[in-house]
Amino acid sequence: MIKFTENDVLVTTPVSPDAEDKELALQLAGKIGISFCPRGKNTISYLTHRCNLSAAIVVSSKQIHLVCQGHRYGFHPNMSLQRVLALKKGEKDRLVEAAQLKSGDSVLDCTCGLGADAVISAYAVGERGRVRALESSALLATIVRFGLLSYEHKESALLDAMRRVAVVNQDYAEALHELDTNSWDVVCFDPMFEKSFSDTKGIDLVHLLGSSSLPSPEVIDQARRVASRSVVIKDRYPGNFLKTIGAPIVSNSKRIWYGRLKSS
Ligand SMILES: C[S@@+](CC[C@H](N)C(=O)[O-])C[C@H]1O[C@@H](n2cnc3c(N)ncnc32)[C@H](O)[C@@H]1O
Repeated sequence: MIKFTENDVLVTTPVSPDAEDKELALQLAGKIGISFCPRGKNTISYLTHRCNLSAAIVVSSKQIHLVCQGHRYGFHPNMSLQRVLALKKGEKDRLVEAAQLKSGDSVLDCTCGLGADAVISAYAVGERGRVRALESSALLATIVRFGLLSYEHKESALLDAMRRVAVVNQDYAEALHELDTNSWDVVCFDPMFEKSFSDTKGIDLVHLLGSSSLPSPEVIDQARRVASRSVVIKDRYPGNFLKTIGAPIVSNSKRIWYGRLKSS
């Protein structure tokens, strides 16, 4: 499985960038600590080959893509649009139910990925609530943060929720260790299992940049300390991970299972 980190990529712009594209690309390269490579009239494969790297982050003021082997991977709202629309109609969302989210809650989403679950949490907790999404991959955090802030759609409820998610590039073990006891109402995990890869449209970016590490029992203990109410963990059928950590199952379907642990 190919995985990209900051060491494997260069940052560039589209051909004929405007001043804003260049400025943003330079800023982003500096922030993540990656070399900026002026695009000129070159193809991405020429640039990456010349720098002996395997992929490029192509930055414009409208979007950011990871480009490798002739493919472009970008931010996508995944299922968050359909889920927001369903919630608006009064239908139930399994994450919202499992986490018992209500207006004003604070949610620490430890596994941001494309941010779809974080957006649903942000919609559920509303303007009075708070959602922070942690992502260990600096590249993914950057692309998703930019995507959540700049994505355009006629559905304002989706955009409002997207804009309220604070994406932070930090490992959850480190973050949880630093956080105060009972400082968030709910802490969530959606670890990346092998089976996640083919689950949904847009997961490729997560597949290419994300980490498939699972939260250790110590991390779960820390999460229970930080959560004032509960820790919610998403698993895949047949819930083996939930069984391993002893999390009672609160929702299951053919594919996705949720477990919930009380705060400690
Ligand atoms: C399956 S994805 C989550 C998908 C997400 N729920 C969504 O709606 O798009 C898991 C994400 O957790 C991230 N991750 C894995 N280990 C992490 C860690 N120790 N700290 C922070 N993020 C981590 C991965 O890089 C990956 O992006």
